[in-house]
Parts: sequence; structure tokens; C-alpha cells
Amino acid sequence: MTIISLARGVPIHAMMPVDLLARSSQLALEENSQAALPYGSVYGYEPLRQWLAQHNDCAADRIIIGNGSMNLIANWAQHYIHPGDYVLVESPTYDRALTILRSLGAQVIGLEQHSDGIDPDELAAYIKQYRIKMAYLIPDFNNPSGVSTSDEKRRAIAQLAQQHDFMIVEDGAYSSLRYVGERIPPIRHYAPEHTVSTGSFSKLLAPGLRTGWMVMPENRTQEFATFLLNTYISPNQFAQATIAKAVTSDEFGPHLAYLHKTYLHLLNLTQAALTDQLAPLGVTWTQPEGGFFIGLHLPPTKKPIWDVASDYGLQLVNGDAFFALPKPTNFVRLPFCSLTENEVNEGVERLARAVADTLA
Ligand SMILES: Cc1ncc(COP(=O)(O)O)c(C=O)c1O
Repeated sequence: MTIISLARGVPIHAMMPVDLLARSSQLALEENSQAALPYGSVYGYEPLRQWLAQHNDCAADRIIIGNGSMNLIANWAQHYIHPGDYVLVESPTYDRALTILRSLGAQVIGLEQHSDGIDPDELAAYIKQYRIKMAYLIPDFNNPSGVSTSDEKRRAIAQLAQQHDFMIVEDGAYSSLRYVGERIPPIRHYAPEHTVSTGSFSKLLAPGLRTGWMVMPENRTQEFATFLLNTYISPNQFAQATIAKAVTSDEFGPHLAYLHKTYLHLLNLTQAALTDQLAPLGVTWTQPEGGFFIGLHLPPTKKPIWDVASDYGLQLVNGDAFFALPKPTNFVRLPFCSLTENEVNEGVERLARAVADTLA
């Protein structure tokens, strides 16, 4: 039996625009090798900054482009967080971010995520109890749950950040991948001086480009750029020059439309398979409107589902890793965008068998 991996949420190769990137890298070299090949500005490749400024509705001097959004977040955290600082996260949240925050000695507090995000009242209660330095949030299509934070909650969270002067890191790795529903303004929109917002080309073009960006608060941009300069001199200018050619070409719009159409189809297919096979077993999930993941909450099983998954030809990660608190979760992250149609159907069927056989 071929193993189906539900372990990683990365785009499959077929979704990466190989020809567009080949032409774009060629053009970047032919037309602008003077900027693409040397070390360059630590803020990033200027034409791409300009494009990002337009698409993020901000001034170009607020943008720092770096070697992947995770690398920027890790550097930001290293720059800003000191051992013992309190950092709030959604529970569940991106496991790599948790690892980074913990490795810096942060006191990480997880706030339960509901179907429309964390509860601002609960956040306010924690603020009373602890001196919060930062909140790390994924308001659009959270990895791993798929949940989006409502506009009302974004406003309330932004207001708390302003009142109590803590910084929000708003991870927007999936923000451009909305398949249904209305766009919700980023938290940055409501508290620009208290928010560092990130975005990524990993899911829009290819993760191997290792390029992401941050929209910075005005009074923090320069100090952070200096930190980055002293850390990595300059980000990858060649990748950024290639991306600048790709996103300004006529082919980028249709490529994005193709991603949206394909991922929406996979989302619908996955939801239908879950409704058919897992709902009857008591499994629940929220309805993502975009992104890469659906988070499943399983009823109690005799063993954690990831411990038995390989007997059913599935590879699963330990769902507890997405939660700040060390309590058992029986949570499964389903990366529907990383699967083929067959893998969705077969994967959900195998998962249903595994759950049915191990229900407590
Ligand atoms: C929430 C979240 N943030 C950041 C990243 C990393 O993005 P990048 O490839 O831009 O470093 C990922 C990748 O899966 C992610 O899910």
C-alpha cells in the first residue's frame, strides 16, 4: 500500500509555475543583472517592494523583503523577544513558530481558537494577569486549523494592542489564497503601529524561492533592517528579481486564478469526503474559506490517531505539536491543497477506518 502523507502542507510541484519562473529568471538576468547578482539593499529588491506596496496598500518604505516569511518572523522574534517575555498565540498555531518562540525562552500562552478566532475578552484577561510583549496570530486561514479571525475580533484585538502597547505579528502566509467569502482587512489596518504583517511567495509561486515580506510599523523599520543587515547582509536579490518579473507578467493573474480554482475544488472535495465518512464518527471541523488546511477534532480514541496512522497507510504528524499547552488533543491537520484528488478520497477513507477502529 502506498503511504499517503498528510504530514506536510506544501504545494505539490504541479502547482508551481515552472515555465513562468524560467522565463522570469532569464529576464531578470538579461535586463537587470546589475541589481540581481550583487549583494543588494537589506530592504529588498526595489521593483518588488513597489509591487508589494501597491498590493498591501502601504508605502514602499514600510516593506522589508527577506528570505521567506518564516525567516523574517524568526529574525523579528530574535530581535524583539527576550527570555521570560510573554507571548500569546492561538491554540492551535503554526508549530514552527512555537518552536522558535520557545527556543528564545519566551513564555508562550495559548488562547483557545473558536470558529471565528480567539476571544478578545480572554485576551484582555491575560493582559491583566501578564505583561504581554507580543501576540503571534494567523488571522487568515490559520495553519493548522483553517480558521479565520472575524473582522469584529480583529478590531478588538487591534484596540487591545494599542491600549496595552504590545506588538502583534500577523502571519499572512495564506492571505492571498481566499477561495470563498469576502476579504477581511488585516489587523494591521486597525493598528498599523502595533502590527508587523507578513506575506509569502511560497504558496503563490514556489517555496524554493525562499522569499517573503513584512509590512512594518514606521518606527520599527529601520532598527529591524539594521538587525537584518548585521545578520545576513542582504536577502536573495536574484530570487526577488525573478519574482518581480513573474508577478508583473501577464501570466501571473491567470496563474493565481488557476491556484484558486484548483484549491477550491480540492476544498469542496475534502469537505464532501469528511461529511460522508468522518462526520458520522463524531469528528468535527471548521469550514475554511481559503488556505491549505482543515483542522479536525477527533472524539477520544484508545490511542492517539497519529500512533496508529501508519497501520492504515497514512502519515500523520502529532497534533499536540500545534498547541501551546501540553494536553492531549487528538487533533489532525488535513493539508487538502497538498493532495491530489485521489489522495483526498483515499486519505479520508483511510482516516475514517483508523478512527472507527480506535474509538474509545
Ligand atoms: C503560518 C505559516 N507561516 C509561515 C510559513 C513559512 O512561509 P515561508 O515559506 O515564506 O517561510 C508557513 C509555511 O508553511 C506557514 O504555514
